[in-house]
Amino acid sequence: MISGMDATVNNQGSPFDDLIDNVIIASPEGLITEINPAALNLLGYGRKEELLGRSMCKVCKDFSLEKITANLPLENCEMIYLGRREKEIPVHVNITARRDHQTALNSIIFSARDMSKTRTLIFELTQSREKLESSYADLRASKDEVVRSEKLAFTGRIAASIAHEIRNPLTNVIMGIHQCAKAFKADDPRAKHVEIVLRNVERINYLITELLNCARPPKLDMRAHDIHKLLENVLAATKTKIASQKIQVVKSFASKSAVLSLDKEQMERAFLNIVINAVEAMPKAGQLTIMTARDENVFVVKIQDTGKGIPDGDIIRIFDPFFSSKQGGVGLGLTICYGVIVSHHGTIEVESKLKAGTTFTVSLPVR
Ligand SMILES: Nc1ncnc2c1ncn2[C@@H]1O[C@H](COP(=O)(O)OP(=O)(O)OP(=O)(O)O)[C@@H](O)[C@H]1O
Ligand SMILES: [Mg+2]
Repeated sequence: MISGMDATVNNQGSPFDDLIDNVIIASPEGLITEINPAALNLLGYGRKEELLGRSMCKVCKDFSLEKITANLPLENCEMIYLGRREKEIPVHVNITARRDHQTALNSIIFSARDMSKTRTLIFELTQSREKLESSYADLRASKDEVVRSEKLAFTGRIAASIAHEIRNPLTNVIMGIHQCAKAFKADDPRAKHVEIVLRNVERINYLITELLNCARPPKLDMRAHDIHKLLENVLAATKTKIASQKIQVVKSFASKSAVLSLDKEQMERAFLNIVINAVEAMPKAGQLTIMTARDENVFVVKIQDTGKGIPDGDIIRIFDPFFSSKQGGVGLGLTICYGVIVSHHGTIEVESKLKAGTTFTVSLPVR
């Protein structure tokens, strides 16, 4: 802190020339009467004569003498100094007054600390924090991914053992019931019961087969296929439902080649599950948008609906086996879909807003 110094205009060395603080002294009229080498250096001037006698406005942005003199002393004031060629330098300044006979203002002393390095440091810190946060989000996403694949692997093991234990006896039961059915005439009331048993046992058989399919996707038959044609097939398969629910279809297909190496049957099944879910989410009209885009490395398919959306709490469960919010839903559609996409080394992401709609984004490697 500067105190008890004589602040007259002077070209000789002054008592605070050796201070590391950036010191400027101004007259009560706001004219620079002294400036030490540290402040000259900070402002980028070689000689103090270039500034002595000049207004403080020359070196301080938005300088207001009235405001400063009315509030003296001021501690840690955030100001912008102006260096040579108007270079802005953020500083923290302590501003004190020297008075004659305890009353009349003799001079104002500005002792500043350069904050540019601190600002840069804060900026860098903020950037590092943002990077850290984004890496943390990536880490969490890959952890979710690992948990999901572990869950699927677990389901696979369970499915395999269920299939092993249930499949053979079930086949025998089905054969036995078929025989029973033959034993009754069509108008025999017992024939109806047998038919119900048969239908249910076949449903169990279907569920086990589906579970096996999603747990251990069959070997892929990879060939070059046009994914746009494949999407057209999916739309054709759902045409009747789409029309009866008054759903408008919007296609925005990439103009670039959509030929990728994939298992046509599996991939068609995966997209069919997504489209059926979208259609089921819009029972009373809506819009189904299918967009594709391609860059050097990935082919992206977005399937968007304007349906009921997925509640936040459900979104992490939709790929889980047997998760379904639908009456009569099996909850394997997206599990199968996930298995197919992952076995093609692709990714599937979902974004959803309740009562607004859902978008599934499938990204497949081009090579
Ligand atoms: N486009 C969508 N809009 C709203 N909810 C969706 C959408 N897609 C999936 N879901 C939610 O995800 C759940 C799981 O979907 P998934 O396809 O796996 O099973 P499902 O459709 O219920 O039954 P199924 O096995 O017959 O397909 C659905 O029950 C639904 O809650
Ligand atoms: Mg489904």
